[in-house]
Amino acid sequence: AYNSYIILDEKIAVMDTVDARKTEEWLDNLAEELCGKEPDYLVISHLEPDHAANIQLLCEKYPNITLVGNAKTFAMLPQFFEIDEAIEKLVVKEGDKLSLGSHSLTFIMAPMVHWPEVMVTYEESEKVLFSADAFGKFGTLDCHESWACEARRYYFNIVGKYGAQTLALLKKAAGLDMHLLCPLHGPVWRKDIAVFVEKYLTWGAYVPEQKGVLIVYGSVYGGTQNAAEILAAKLSEKGVPAVLYDASVTHVSYLVSEAFRYSHLVFAAATYNNDIFTPVETLLTDLKAHALRNRTVGLIQNGSWAPQSGKKMREILESMQNMTVLPETVTVRSTVKEDSLTEIDALCGALIASLRA
Ligand code: FEO
Repeated sequence: AYNSYIILDEKIAVMDTVDARKTEEWLDNLAEELCGKEPDYLVISHLEPDHAANIQLLCEKYPNITLVGNAKTFAMLPQFFEIDEAIEKLVVKEGDKLSLGSHSLTFIMAPMVHWPEVMVTYEESEKVLFSADAFGKFGTLDCHESWACEARRYYFNIVGKYGAQTLALLKKAAGLDMHLLCPLHGPVWRKDIAVFVEKYLTWGAYVPEQKGVLIVYGSVYGGTQNAAEILAAKLSEKGVPAVLYDASVTHVSYLVSEAFRYSHLVFAAATYNNDIFTPVETLLTDLKAHALRNRTVGLIQNGSWAPQSGKKMREILESMQNMTVLPETVTVRSTVKEDSLTEIDALCGALIASLRA
C-alpha cells in the first residue's frame, strides 16, 4: 500500500504523492477530497519514486502549490523531475513549523530512514506522526496478517543497515504524544503505538527477538538438506526452537528477515565451483550488506571431492560485525554418514550450550 494524506484546514496540505502505478486513482481521490479547492502545500517526506512519482504532475495540475522539503530534498529533486521554476519551494529544517490554521506541522529530519532526505512530520492539534517509511509494512490493506511479520521483513530489507539512524529518529520522537501513526505504507495506527515503537527499538539495536536457531540450506542433490534436517530434528528433540528454510526456493527477503529475528543461525551449503552454492552465497552477501551483527553461527559444508563452502562462508561471516562462528563445522561428503552424524551432534551440542550460556 502506498499512502498519501491530505490535511484540510485554512491552508490545505497534501502529504506525499503515490507510486506511478496508482496515479489516476490518486488524482481522482485527491480531487474528490479537495471539492474544487486547490492544495496550498505538498509536503515531500521522501523522494523515492514509490511516494514521489507524481510531484511534477501535481505541480502541473496545481501551479499555485508550494513544495515543502529540506535542503537535501531540493538538491535531489531535479534528478527526478523538471519542475517549473515558478513553483514556490519552502525549505525546512529540524524543528521548523508550518501553520495551516488550526493544524500545525513540525518537521523532524530522519536521514537514512530510508534515504538521506527523509523527514517525518508531527501535527500538534491531532497528535499525528506522519512517519514516512518508518512503521510501514509490505502488503495491501485488505490482507489480514499480523503487522510484525511483514513490518519486520520490510524494515530489515529496506532500512536494516541504518539501525543507528533509526534509533536517532526514535530518540527524537520519544517526547511526542502520538495518537495517530501515519506511515507511507500499510495501515494507519490509532492504538498500540508503543508496541510498534518497542519493536523498532529492538530492530534498530540489532537485538534478536527470538532465542532459537534459524537453519538455511542450499542443497544440490539432497545430502546437505538431509544434514540440515537432521540438525533441526535433534534441536527440536532437545526443546530448542528451530526453523528450517531452503534457500533455493525461499525469496531472500524472508531469509534476511528471519536471520535478524533469530539469535543463532546455521548455514548449510554445498560446494559449488569451489565456492558457496549460490543461493546461500546470495543470502550471506545480503546479510552483510544489511549489516547483520551480534549472532552466533554454525556451519555445515558439503563437497564430494573438495569441500570449500565452510571456509568461504566463514570468511564472509568473519568480515561482519560481532559474529561468533562456532568451531564445530560439519563436513558432509556427498551424503550423511556416521562421521558427519557425529559432527552434527557436536554442532547441536555447541548451539545448545551457547543458547543456554
Ligand atoms: Fe517507501 Fe523508501 O520508499
